[in-house]
Amino acid sequence: MPISGETRVFGLLGYPVAHSLSPAMYNEAFAALDYPGVYVAFPVEPVRVAEAVAGVRALGLGGANVTVPHKQAVIPHLDEVTPAARQIGAVNVIIPRDGRLIGDNTDGRGFLRSLREELGLEPTGARAVILGAGGAARAIAVELLRAGLSRLVIANRTLARAQELAGALQHNGLATASGEEGASSVSLAPAGGGNATVAAMDLQDSRLQEEVATAHLLIHTTTWGMAPHHHVPPLIPAHWLAPPTAVCDIVYAPAETSLLREARRRGCPTLPGIGMLLYQGVIALESWLERPAPVAVMREALLRHLS
Ligand code: ATR
Repeated sequence: MPISGETRVFGLLGYPVAHSLSPAMYNEAFAALDYPGVYVAFPVEPVRVAEAVAGVRALGLGGANVTVPHKQAVIPHLDEVTPAARQIGAVNVIIPRDGRLIGDNTDGRGFLRSLREELGLEPTGARAVILGAGGAARAIAVELLRAGLSRLVIANRTLARAQELAGALQHNGLATASGEEGASSVSLAPAGGGNATVAAMDLQDSRLQEEVATAHLLIHTTTWGMAPHHHVPPLIPAHWLAPPTAVCDIVYAPAETSLLREARRRGCPTLPGIGMLLYQGVIALESWLERPAPVAVMREALLRHLS
């Protein structure tokens, strides 16, 4: 794509950014759409976040992504933040619209879209167990609850962080505390969330095996099993995994983690981490350009750069 006076610049604000897969994914998408865009990674030092956002505005960027460590820090510098990003407490996309900068978060929606497109699963009324309680867990939890999950268990190495996340979800009106801890819930939440029960536990909790067995979805969101430290067993015992529980991992390198391998061998539907990575970008691109993204091209770009 030749650079001309028409070219619109898009970029990633993060630190560091040199290993990001986003430039490959978006630039190949622009080429496939014959769109005059160019996407670059901007290393933004933490003290320069306000200036960087002002730069997005002043230079008229077509859109931007935000990554570690700036996902919270950009918020006060934006004109508006979507309800989802507010509930997640982090922004990963900046959408310029009518002279205003809108912060959104497409991580959780990216996960949901990959769940729907790749496994054909709809979270409404479902029961889920999330392993981990960090930023990715929060983004996924918020969107699953907004989509009408009926029960969510957050299991984390550090119980206090799981409790903190469960508390934040309740505070945001997305869920209620599980009255009888560990009891199964049958409440069906309406779209928009609010009626789901949420429980926090640590990974050693004796109730976790039963929660996994009765869950429709098990989602691993921790850094455990990420390359180059991927020669490890899954975070929970493999014999807990059985159909029909769908097992999802947001780790995308390696493409198949030990958790996914064990789940596949036991006949569970599995969802690899590339789905969330791909679709958070697909949704961002669709917000910037207001047209459908070339999903297959973007997936190929990611796969090529990962291998
Ligand atoms: P992110 O924002 O990418 O989700 P994070 O906020 O650093 O990352 O969260 C990392 C998650 O991985 C946490 O749930 C963390 O557990 P703790 O809260 O107990 O730290 C989890 N994690 C990291 N290393 C782990 C390990 N060796 N075993 C189990 N969980 C681990």
